[in-house]
Amino acid sequence: MTCRREARCIEAPSVSDLPIPAILTGASAHALPEVSPQSAQLSAPVATTAPLISPASMMADLSPSEQIIAGLVRNGYAVVPDYLPPRLAGALRREAIRRDRRHEFALAAIGREDQRQQDASVRRDRTCWLTGDSPAQQALHADLEQLRQGINRALFLGLFDLEAHFAIYHPGAFYRRHLDAFQGNNARIVSMVLYLNPGWVPADGGCLRLWPSPRARRPAFDVAPVSGTLVCFLSEQIPHEVLPAFSDRLSIACWFRRNMTTAERTDPPVTG
Ligand code: OGA
Ligand code: MN
Repeated sequence: MTCRREARCIEAPSVSDLPIPAILTGASAHALPEVSPQSAQLSAPVATTAPLISPASMMADLSPSEQIIAGLVRNGYAVVPDYLPPRLAGALRREAIRRDRRHEFALAAIGREDQRQQDASVRRDRTCWLTGDSPAQQALHADLEQLRQGINRALFLGLFDLEAHFAIYHPGAFYRRHLDAFQGNNARIVSMVLYLNPGWVPADGGCLRLWPSPRARRPAFDVAPVSGTLVCFLSEQIPHEVLPAFSDRLSIACWFRRNMTTAERTDPPVTG
């Protein structure tokens, strides 16, 4: 959000004069099969360990949005610890817990539109869409709107709107390796995950594992779902997986989307 803390991200490029890599131009976009919202096919297990992202990283002189832009350009992903101010993370966490108690969460599905189905071998989280009807959601939305505009100004990605949901992984829940979008048939361009778990310890599991590209066999790193951390990545390019959680794991997953409006089909209005 607006806070500027000790930046502890994973790469230290300067935003200026970074070349736009193939990952952003689509030149490297031919993916191996992935579990995706469109396909429930499981990928073979490819690795059992990955380096845990270290909070000792750099980019201290860049703002959070500059870190995100630089990370997207250089790697296709960025991690920003302490992105959410603790008060906002706390308010969002309390709201998620309140909504869960009111049974507003549902078992998450995979696949699109008429092919949506629940598949417990692929994902076991429960989700609840953000509708923008609380001050905490509005504060988050205002911040992400600034970020959307900043990314568009820097990278010309044509990000049009945002969709977001709370997610809860109860103990034992996971989400197998997948992409959030396949090229050409999905509006999702940039994925973001914000974590809402104070006091998370390694024994709680539930790390997010990222791979550097659809073809990569070796993961890039794991991120612990520690409260306030933001992970951001290109939806069509970065495979990822949620490792099994051993405590309740709360997060907000959201996506900047392109405008898919056509003469036949009107895109849903912006909410959240
Ligand atoms: C998702 C997802 C990652 C996480 O919801 O698509 O990949 O760390 N979430 O919760
Ligand atoms: Mn995902």
